[in-house]
Amino acid sequence: MTREEALDSVKANVENENLVKHMLATEAIMRALARRLNEDKEEWSLAGLLHDIDVELTSGDMNTHSKLGADLARDLGASEAVAHAILCHNKAHDIPRETKLDKALFCVDPLTGLITAAALIRPDKKLAGLEAKSVKKRFKEKSFAAGADRQQISLCSEIGLELDEFIELGLKAMQSIAADLGL
Ligand SMILES: [Fe+2]
Repeated sequence: MTREEALDSVKANVENENLVKHMLATEAIMRALARRLNEDKEEWSLAGLLHDIDVELTSGDMNTHSKLGADLARDLGASEAVAHAILCHNKAHDIPRETKLDKALFCVDPLTGLITAAALIRPDKKLAGLEAKSVKKRFKEKSFAAGADRQQISLCSEIGLELDEFIELGLKAMQSIAADLGL
């Protein structure tokens, strides 16, 4: 499956534009992380791009979310490693995250929300002028973008990154596709 085919499939299954943007942001950070960690960029970015493909199909039901997504990813031709990362990114299933790819997708997922929220409270609502230290400050404000699970983001330590570097890498990755994100 090409990246374009994967994106077409995401768009065919997801109407909510913000959700598509969330998957694009996750894809971009996963790609940057794979580059940083010398991992497979195609696999890691594909896991990011597809990870929430089933959210509308499952109507947000956490008991089926990501199970269907993993099946869809397999049907599209994704590897078992990618399907597993998608499957266990939903903590409701309590499936252990074993590989670096599993762990990476899990901590990247909420980081996109924190960075997006930090951009949206700026007067220009843009990512361009946002600095990593501002995102870090927001990270410490528990009530800010409370849905972005701080503990989950902090699990970047499990893939060998300090929080500061993780935030900086995530921010740069999202800035590089700011136009696609409308930010
Ligand atoms: Fe997600």
